Amino acid sequence: QLIIEERLEGDEASVIAITDGRSILTLPAAQDHKPALDGDSGPKTGGMGAYSPTPLVDDKLLAVVQEQVLVPTVHALKRQRRPFQGALYAGLMVTPQGPKVLEFNVRFGDPECQPLLMRLQSDVVDVLEATVDGRLDELPELQWDPRPSVCVVMASEGYPGPYERGRPIRGLDEAANIEDVKVFHAGTATTDGQVVTNGGRVLGVTALGDSIAKAKLQAYKAVKCIRWEGAWCRKDISDKARNSGTD
Ligand code: GLY
Repeated sequence: QLIIEERLEGDEASVIAITDGRSILTLPAAQDHKPALDGDSGPKTGGMGAYSPTPLVDDKLLAVVQEQVLVPTVHALKRQRRPFQGALYAGLMVTPQGPKVLEFNVRFGDPECQPLLMRLQSDVVDVLEATVDGRLDELPELQWDPRPSVCVVMASEGYPGPYERGRPIRGLDEAANIEDVKVFHAGTATTDGQVVTNGGRVLGVTALGDSIAKAKLQAYKAVKCIRWEGAWCRKDISDKARNSGTD
């Protein structure tokens, strides 16, 4: 038996905060693309691409999420004597009635992490060490590249269903040489010095740009350099932002 309590209409966004159990650093919002195919169709995946920041969550809404979702959650855990230290990921539906929590994860989010790290200019190791040591409040303000970032996930043939591993990947150096691009490895391995596929979501090809549209172009330019048998990706990562008319 299934009870539907409330149907939420809106767009999904991810807001991740780093907390040492007392203080909170809320990171810029990101938007994932969970369905496998363009136009948000097809089966659900772990995420086929992401971009940040997202016009879906402006500064005002980010402050609401921090005050109404993240701070109360961190404080409730502390009151229960189970303080949480790490990355607290709020998966939200942004509805006309405001943000509603769909899920919490305790990780940076994949592929949300890639565009976030691409924009973070402060040293992430300093941030993580301060988190572990409980001294986030002593950390200088995080520095961000103001430019948006787009990550396109390249996947194995068959994903999110069964897929083969061990397919040689070509063009990684060529892609890495493109300005403002970084290729994050997810499902890869090295066999006899050759990088091969070793998972469903194989690479997170990530780029910065002066606008979301330019970051998208740059990311897909890098995607075009990379090839293996059966490689595929969505072609519309970040279009949701542009469709909202703000980019
Ligand atoms: N991209 C969604 C997650 O990491 O859960």
